[in-house]
Amino acid sequence: MTVGSLLAADLVIAVLAAAGWLGGGAASAARRRPLARGLAAVALLATVVRAITITALARAGWWFAAEKVLIAAPLSLAAVLVAGPRLLRTPGDPRSVAVPLLFAGYANSAALLVTVLHGYPASAGAGLLAVAGVVTATAVSWRALNARPSRAVSRAALVVAVAALVTGTGLAATPAAAPAVPHDHEYREARTVGEPTRRFTLTAGTATVSVSGRDVAAWAFNGQVPGPELTATVGDVLEVTLRNRDIARGVTLHWHGYDVPNSQDGVPGVTQAAVLPGQEFVYRFRADQAGTYWYHTHAVSDVGVRKGLYGVLVVRPAPVTGVDVTVPVHTLSGLPLPAPRTEPVEAGTPVRLRLVNTDSTTHRYALAGAPFQVAAIDGSDLQGPTSLVDTAVLIPAGGRYDLVFTAPATPVALFVDGRAVYSTGPVATATGAWPVLDPLTYGAASPAPWSRFDREFTLVLDRGLDLHGLLPRYAHTVNGAADPDIPPQVVRPGDIVRFTIVNRSLVVHPWHLHGHHVLVLSRNGEPATGSPLWLDSFDVRPGDVWVVAFRADNPGMWANHCHNLAHADAGMTLHLMYS
Ligand code: C2O
Ligand code: CU
Repeated sequence: MTVGSLLAADLVIAVLAAAGWLGGGAASAARRRPLARGLAAVALLATVVRAITITALARAGWWFAAEKVLIAAPLSLAAVLVAGPRLLRTPGDPRSVAVPLLFAGYANSAALLVTVLHGYPASAGAGLLAVAGVVTATAVSWRALNARPSRAVSRAALVVAVAALVTGTGLAATPAAAPAVPHDHEYREARTVGEPTRRFTLTAGTATVSVSGRDVAAWAFNGQVPGPELTATVGDVLEVTLRNRDIARGVTLHWHGYDVPNSQDGVPGVTQAAVLPGQEFVYRFRADQAGTYWYHTHAVSDVGVRKGLYGVLVVRPAPVTGVDVTVPVHTLSGLPLPAPRTEPVEAGTPVRLRLVNTDSTTHRYALAGAPFQVAAIDGSDLQGPTSLVDTAVLIPAGGRYDLVFTAPATPVALFVDGRAVYSTGPVATATGAWPVLDPLTYGAASPAPWSRFDREFTLVLDRGLDLHGLLPRYAHTVNGAADPDIPPQVVRPGDIVRFTIVNRSLVVHPWHLHGHHVLVLSRNGEPATGSPLWLDSFDVRPGDVWVVAFRADNPGMWANHCHNLAHADAGMTLHLMYS
């Protein structure tokens, strides 16, 4: 069982336990003895099974189980100790077991709420609030069911509840010491880039574009979705003028995966101000890295990218030989892009397909009809790629894979999620059952360049209630906090930095650090054994633990976020800064 499914199973069992105890309590209050016993038995069983799931999660990593061990386990134990013996004593009024069963229900519900609303890290505040809730709810039920607790008992309950509530609220409300990101911070680059050799102008504006014969309202660069493909040769100096015609919320250009100087990174409020209607901004940087990249707005990026403000950036080491095609996949108003394209290719021609995922979720790509190699991932060439047949690849949000093959005499087709998007002729192959390539074991290994690390950070990805804003929101969190309250990670120039990224939530988080490529060291405790993998976008699935490292060699203030842009917007963004 994977840790991801264990997390899901644990949640379901916790819900069962809470519902069983509460239902049992309600049934005994209604004097439905057999029903009460049945529900309580289910609850008891679920509570026991949960001891197993919690133990397994704790063994997979403390991050997955902290609040379950420290808060849920003691509350569940108290529930079993109080309700269990009462159940065995049969005779008498069934209502006499109502309050103990309800107590067990409240204890399990409170523990569940701690996991769902508070998550990681466990805190004394959350624990005390849970206790306060359980004591209060039990006392209220006790009175309501007319069980007449003695004055001393009521008073003790009141004191415990109030004390726990007051301390818990105090602890929970204490803000984590999060030094605010200095948003007006300016970085100067020592680099001079020289005279531009490639000039482009991108004008952002609302537009109507046609997708599969339907008119769709979009936000577009130069009236098209995707925007124009920007191409350059290594050594070029790119100058891109961004104009905003009428996107009221502003636009910027972020060069996804391109490690530009910080001032050119296009993050509004961090590296520049958003470009408002009528304004312009000129980006200039040297094309030193060859490979497949993309650009997109970073102003209200969740909406802006989804509506079409993106395009491809390809930097080639030399003029193209053979066929070189980019396939930027996107979903615009529910319709898949690009439109399918068929072009005959002469047998023997080298073909490079540059696959780009510009959506916020993973896509599955399958190339049928020819053996192929994965030549590069996220713009970095792989070492010793071997030939693959009938194998699919999963590309995370923001990620790129370059597939290369020699055109055979028979047709070849690329399928994205089962839909043919590029082909050299008709191909009818079912690719849905193909195995998926694991890039961590693909290609030829090299010894790791570093063995010691100057800085280590752990990012625990979760969900939780964020009460720091004007309105409470259910945020996507990192280490229990949501943007802008996540403390920045501070590094010094030259540091070798190691990140451990843990996903204890139930959804995939495609992780993306700006300005740097990270080297994958391990995933779920298994070291990467294939070609060195230098990534800028990688899927951290539920229950995953990724360990990656990079050299801090690009000073500035860099966004470090989930590239499911709705998640980034809902709190899952932090910053890496240089001291
Ligand atoms: Cu492609 Cu900060 O994003
Ligand atoms: Cu995410």
